Amino acid sequence: MDNKKIVLSGIRPTGQLHLGNYLGALSNFVKMQNEGNYDSYYFIADLHALTTNPDPKELHTNVRHILAEYLAAGLDPEKSTIFVQSDIPEVSEMYLLLNMHVGIGELMRTAAFKDKARKALGITAPTQGDDDEDVAKEIIGASTNKRVNAGLLTYPTLMAVDILIQRADFVPVGKDQEQHLELTRRFARRFNSFYKTEYFKEPQNFNFGSAPVKVPGLDGSGKMGKSEGNCIYLVDDEKTIRKKVMRAVTDGGPTEPNQPMAEPVQNLFTILKLVGTPDKVEFFTEAYNNCSIRYGDLKKEIAEDIVAMTTPIRERILDIENDDAYLHRVLEMGAERARARAGKTLADVREIMGITKF
Ligand code: TRP
Repeated sequence: MDNKKIVLSGIRPTGQLHLGNYLGALSNFVKMQNEGNYDSYYFIADLHALTTNPDPKELHTNVRHILAEYLAAGLDPEKSTIFVQSDIPEVSEMYLLLNMHVGIGELMRTAAFKDKARKALGITAPTQGDDDEDVAKEIIGASTNKRVNAGLLTYPTLMAVDILIQRADFVPVGKDQEQHLELTRRFARRFNSFYKTEYFKEPQNFNFGSAPVKVPGLDGSGKMGKSEGNCIYLVDDEKTIRKKVMRAVTDGGPTEPNQPMAEPVQNLFTILKLVGTPDKVEFFTEAYNNCSIRYGDLKKEIAEDIVAMTTPIRERILDIENDDAYLHRVLEMGAERARARAGKTLADVREIMGITKF
């Protein structure tokens, strides 16, 4: 176990997981865990969720959901270290320490920050152009009841600490998190060069063998996300799944043989490829190409394939979700392992920075 490379990833508890989360990330976590080539750490980033000031009860419920979903999908607390970020107080301390080497300017130029800052201030993004200065001016000029909280600004510091404190080698994240990972590497290099040490290694993004799986949504464009009518949740029951899929956007149907597919139709085929068998894909592609396709049949097939894939997971989620004793045990185990590693790193970092005992 000791010389295996470390894989670590976190998820913000902002709602329930959908098929896109499952096929794009979670199912790969499970596969990797079971192949056993890495030592894996998966956590729920509840401190990061605080940056948007969620309702306390909702936050707690969301942590429970994600934890149950991770376990129901096959993450195994005996094989992976599964934990909640706030159970590792070492993270908060190292966040304070690392912030001493992080620039306000570089944080303010982070794309995700500008996005969220604008939302907090109620301003809309300009369609193009370099708007760093505009955002900065708006932030400084904003009244205190429309503030951009400091936690939002230092979000990348906290994420860097999540990664560096566990000395992770690989961090599987989507495109939207690549800039944060780049900052993590920069902070690691800066720390090393300031203290003339090689202490931190630079974590790399992790691709699961092939190109990342992008699951399209049901509303005709873009990827599956949490918006209404666009996604299938892992906890959706069979009736809901069928209803959602049957309502998916299509077009009027092909009128000429081998006509190129419109995006909404392409999306349905992409989903079928992910959840169905190759012979079904071939059957419906053929039917599209010779204009005999009936979208209703295609949707029925997709719905049944999704039901077959998610039903066992949903049943486990419902079982696990209310088993407080089990959830408690899992997190206790995870926290113990994660804290052991984090504690060692924090002690080293304190020492390197000159916080030493008399
Ligand atoms: N910022 C990530 C997201 O929103 C979640 C996250 C927090 C994370 N800490 C992390 C991901 C560390 C990977 C590693 O998706």
